[in-house]
Amino acid sequence: TRTIKLAVIPGDGIGPEVIAEANRVLDAVLDGSDVALERTEFKLGADRFLETGETLPEIEQAAIAEHDAILFGAVGGVPGDPRLAGANIERGLLLKLRFDFDHYANVRPCTLFPGVESTLREPGTVDFVVVREGTEGPYAGNGGRLRSGTMAEVATEVSVNTALGIERVVRYAFETAQHRERRKLTWVHKTNVLVHSGATWQRIVEAVAVEYPEIAVDYLHVDAATIAMVQDPGRFDVIVTDNLFGDILTDLAGAIGGGIGLAASGNINPDGAFPSMFEPVHGSAPDIAGKQQADPTAAILSAAIMLDHLSLTAAAERVRDAVRADLAGRGAERRSTAEIGDRIIAHLSVGSDRDSRND
Ligand code: NAD
Ligand code: IPM
Ligand code: MN
Repeated sequence: TRTIKLAVIPGDGIGPEVIAEANRVLDAVLDGSDVALERTEFKLGADRFLETGETLPEIEQAAIAEHDAILFGAVGGVPGDPRLAGANIERGLLLKLRFDFDHYANVRPCTLFPGVESTLREPGTVDFVVVREGTEGPYAGNGGRLRSGTMAEVATEVSVNTALGIERVVRYAFETAQHRERRKLTWVHKTNVLVHSGATWQRIVEAVAVEYPEIAVDYLHVDAATIAMVQDPGRFDVIVTDNLFGDILTDLAGAIGGGIGLAASGNINPDGAFPSMFEPVHGSAPDIAGKQQADPTAAILSAAIMLDHLSLTAAAERVRDAVRADLAGRGAERRSTAEIGDRIIAHLSVGSDRDSRND
């Protein structure tokens, strides 16, 4: 038996609701296999902060680091909650984990599954993946505020782009493209305005491209990329871009791919020095929290990306097949979070007659 140590951070709002379903699906797909999940739950997020004043205690971070993977729900309180002013759970917890565990490849697939309605009238075939840089850019936290509260106040947020940081994510994106059918890579930046980081990105993309002659490379400015994503999403295969552009483009991609409730992601540390972290793209959705209205599919598909990462490829495919089967028959029917989980699990057992149960 292979034991996988899984750190689970359900978080706030709908986080615990969607993670409950992802955990049930994981148990169901691994049932009868020779893989055992050993879970440790960490209660972190805005609720924890409100209770104890803690965001991410060092010993807990060290304990999380000892796991093989992290399953993360969503964190964040109700925007504007005065009790959370200055807490910044997003930076102190989520980004801290991404940065400290060197999750430099933030992988966010966008596939419009059959039967799913897109926000686009004629989406065509949508099947691309955004490789978002995860450890640098404007997210690096390099900046500050001078003369705060005066008319002379100046706030800066300096985007950090290192050759090492760009090279490793660009290489990861080329490798991703290499393993896909269309072998196309679009890099996205804003080189006409952000000339310094733009030049560094361009130099590195062009240098790495030489090593991948079979991959077709093109470039779009990020503003034009939003037009292309809405008007002709089928043009994309693999997109590589910086941390902030990638954040924005993947919410847009979520909407195109059938809604943010379906958008999954992996924060990957490809070197394997730290556990990678798998989470839906969406947040804690305070507007629908506690009502069993959240779609757990994004969390379930994130768990599938985790299975892939752990080399449990057959199990990952079974989860995706079950999701696909469920989505194909969903229609306009309204179902609770747990009902969606139930239905996906039911499709899982139907599929297991056909497929091999073990990897
Ligand atoms: P959000 O993603 O939480 O919600 C945006 C909209 O999408 C809301 O209308 C919400 O109801 C809907 N939605 C989100 N997930 C859904 C699901 N699974 N099923 C159905 N509908 C869903 O973004 P927000 O409102 O900007 O942020 C809320 C809080 O979450 C903030 O505190 C924010 O900082 C935090 N946040 C956390 C993460 C994360 O933990 N990874 C990501 C984004 C936002
Ligand atoms: C996401 C979120 C996070 C980000 C926030 C909550 C820090 O929006 O995962 O897309 O900006 O990366
Ligand atoms: Mn985001």
